[in-house]
Amino acid sequence: MPVAARRGLGVGMVGYAFMGAAHSHAWRTAGRFFDLPLAPELAALCGRSRAEVADAAERMGWRAVETDWKALLARDDVELVDICSPGDTHADIAIAALDAGKHVLCEKPLANTVDEARAMTAAAQRAAARGVRSMVGFSYRRVPALALARRLVAAGRIGEVRHVRAVYLQDWIVDPEFPLVWRLRREAAGSGALGDIGAHIVDMAQYLTGDVLTGVNALTETFVRERPLPVAAAGLSGSAAGRSDGGSESAAGGSNGAGRGAVTVDDAALFVGRFAGGALASFEATRFATGRKNALRIELNGSRGSLAFDLEALNELEFYDGTEDADTAGFRRILVTEPTHPYLAAWWPPGHLIGYEHTFTHQAADLVNDIAADRDPVPSFADGLRVQLVLDAVQRSAATGGGWAPIPD
Ligand SMILES: NC(=O)c1ccc[n+]([C@@H]2O[C@H](COP(=O)([O-])OP(=O)(O)OC[C@H]3O[C@@H](n4cnc5c(N)ncnc54)[C@H](O)[C@@H]3O)[C@@H](O)[C@H]2O)c1
Repeated sequence: MPVAARRGLGVGMVGYAFMGAAHSHAWRTAGRFFDLPLAPELAALCGRSRAEVADAAERMGWRAVETDWKALLARDDVELVDICSPGDTHADIAIAALDAGKHVLCEKPLANTVDEARAMTAAAQRAAARGVRSMVGFSYRRVPALALARRLVAAGRIGEVRHVRAVYLQDWIVDPEFPLVWRLRREAAGSGALGDIGAHIVDMAQYLTGDVLTGVNALTETFVRERPLPVAAAGLSGSAAGRSDGGSESAAGGSNGAGRGAVTVDDAALFVGRFAGGALASFEATRFATGRKNALRIELNGSRGSLAFDLEALNELEFYDGTEDADTAGFRRILVTEPTHPYLAAWWPPGHLIGYEHTFTHQAADLVNDIAADRDPVPSFADGLRVQLVLDAVQRSAATGGGWAPIPD
């Protein structure tokens, strides 16, 4: 459909730093590369400081600004609310938006607690009955190589899955003088590496296998227990008094940077788990893997073959087909850039690579298509709740020193 002939879909977004920039780019781009039935419009951007949100809106292409998310929800030109703020804001904003009849895209992890995630899932179910849609932002599902991996697993190409081996490794807080940004405070983030990056590999493991975890044994650790208070923070950067790491926004909580505070979340979480279908899984999520910047790696071993992925080679998928002749069988590197691969027909000729930001454009395109088709998007809030139950089980197990923690249905 020609862009000019499409009805608009007004988006209102909360938060304008790391994910705010990634989502803004996605809303600007999705309708230009994908033939969408509705044209996303960047209607209004919400933050707490008028000067900073106005500056961000101008930079990222938003038409209007608000400084209170309730005012954003009240706007007639906002039909979809995109939540790109920390976890402690997700439940209030998402539930109010859904009850007000606005579609919702909520960043991961869905919430900070299982109770919040349950309330959000109930609100999403109420809203779906009225044609109001919701999605949680597990954006790695939109990496074409991982969507292809899901397709291969679902088609039985690796047979029955026996092992899932997943790690998500970062190193941005190895320095003990890195400031106490919101991600290191339990009341803002819910948990640390566990909820931030562990949530991604838990969702990915459940998505790729099409199965659910039934319980875990876990260890968590906080290596640096006290840090300087921040004067600025955004995404994975921040600065404390007397040093700067490129933070671009006033720190949440109005800290003046004086003094130090307690880290109240995990720095690393390691756990093993069982899937309902019998597979065994191992997970490692850490912000202390010195030298590893954003290494999400996942491998599946099945009765007929294996698949392996590394985010640092985002356009590639390794596939071992165990049914091939032993003389020539071996892991092959699939360059996932063919127009037959998920999402790739919208982009460049084969071999012309895509990047991190494309996953958010795919997420926006999928959500718009689902809204227009009146169908429930995935990952749903129920999928987000399923991840939250795993995170909660990890924390319960770690609190007992690694005992078995079952995950309720
Ligand atoms: N999908 C992914 O891969 C991915 C990657 C990074 C972050 N995230 C998630 O996105 C969310 C935001 O993370 P981020 O890295 O963008 O954080 P950030 O610190 O870069 O930005 C947070 C934004 O929220 C705003 N904010 C904070 N409290 C607010 C409030 N009460 N009302 C309005 N605005 C408020 C801040 O001003 C800021 O603009 C988190 O849930 C995080 O887990 C997802």
